Amino acid sequence: MKILSIFGTRPEAIKMAPVVRALGACHGVTSIVCVTGQHRSMLEQVMDLFNLCPDYDLDVMVPDQTLNGLCSRLFSKLGPVLEKERPDRVLVHGDTSTAAIGAMAAFHQRIPVAHVEAGLRTGNLQQPWPEEMNRRVVDVISDYLFAPTAGSADNLRNENLGGRIIVTGNTVIDALHMTVARIGADAEMRSGLDAAFPFLNSGRKILLVTGHRRENFGDGFANICQALAQLAQRTDIDIVYPVHLNPRVRGPVQEVLANLNNVHLIEPLDYLHFVRLMQHAHVILTDSGGVQEEAPALGKPVLVMRDVTERPEAVASGTVHLVGTDRARIVAAVSELFNQPESHHSFSHKLNPYGDGHSAQRIVSALTGTPYTEFQSRRNARLNPPDLRDQTTT
Ligand code: UD1
Ligand code: UDP
Repeated sequence: MKILSIFGTRPEAIKMAPVVRALGACHGVTSIVCVTGQHRSMLEQVMDLFNLCPDYDLDVMVPDQTLNGLCSRLFSKLGPVLEKERPDRVLVHGDTSTAAIGAMAAFHQRIPVAHVEAGLRTGNLQQPWPEEMNRRVVDVISDYLFAPTAGSADNLRNENLGGRIIVTGNTVIDALHMTVARIGADAEMRSGLDAAFPFLNSGRKILLVTGHRRENFGDGFANICQALAQLAQRTDIDIVYPVHLNPRVRGPVQEVLANLNNVHLIEPLDYLHFVRLMQHAHVILTDSGGVQEEAPALGKPVLVMRDVTERPEAVASGTVHLVGTDRARIVAAVSELFNQPESHHSFSHKLNPYGDGHSAQRIVSALTGTPYTEFQSRRNARLNPPDLRDQTTT
């Protein structure tokens, strides 16, 4: 069976790495990897870390790309690859332009598509934009729908889609397991990783920030940066922000935050360094999808700068709070977690609802007709948190 995996951004590569590795180890499967290069250096960081070697690299990224320009380059470069390889199946992940156009390009050539991380929904096409549309398109096309949680499977059932729905857990937890294990097993590696973060020596607590969503461009980002500038007046915290390479993000962030001495604007980190930094963080403030899933597994409180989320499980379990992009609301929520140890404690001792580290194997078993058991989020959530909590930063 020939399976062609298509991905192109940092989060897709992190979440597809365990799947590609499991496919590569599966007897009877020929695994082909096509990276679109929607991201360039941020993608390469992940490929290197997980030792992934693409068979095709379409190199579609241009600086400050428009969605239509990106999509047209994706269509024209994916077509010939599919034509040449004629795989039995295409695998795409999540909700990026790469995923949507990858699925459509395969559909146009009558190649079956499977969707990893199917069924996430906010119910609002504008948030996240354009991702809510992208994932719906992929789910309509796909005949295998790998839902990470029971809730995402319910979303799919409610839409009466044709694909077979399988609850697998989220493969990001597989990637996190692998990475936490590597860090935990190697004291020398830990010192090397920590040496990259000189601010760890300040003795102050860390607020780790990431932000890049398109729907937050403009006023949303201006508010976020103003909130961070206000929080930086505290003398007991360091704010660490690995800034996404999108110029629409870097512009406002540099303008407002570049000259504050306890704000550390750093380049995007490879996954090993970023996981280590999450382990050190006291609080995480983010608009990222993946970080919302990882942080609960690490026992870290997460404040999410969005009005709605397609990942309601961690909100329900109490480890993620939505704070939107209002300056005062962000400042109040972050301050509470730094000022009130009880709030912090109750936030950080909830359950990880997203995976048990075996999601990729379920996906590969389903595709190859091997027996597997679906992910049971509640049962596994009870079992998961202790082994991903870190003992090496305290
Ligand atoms: C994309 C995805 C988004 C995902 C995010 C993860 C779409 C429409 N958006 O958004 O769903 O959450 O990735 O990070 O698919 N750039 C670089 N080097 C890189 C990466 C990006 O220079 O390695 C810059 C380029 O100027 C590029 C711009 O960032 O044009 C935007 O990249 P793009 O993939 O279009 O959008 P993201 O905001 O990264
Ligand atoms: N991440 C990383 N380096 C960084 C910031 C984030 O490796 O400097 C990882 C993070 O752990 C998560 C993923 O990148 O797995 C999230 O990517 P992003 O926020 O760009 O996209 P989203 O998840 O919102 O689609």
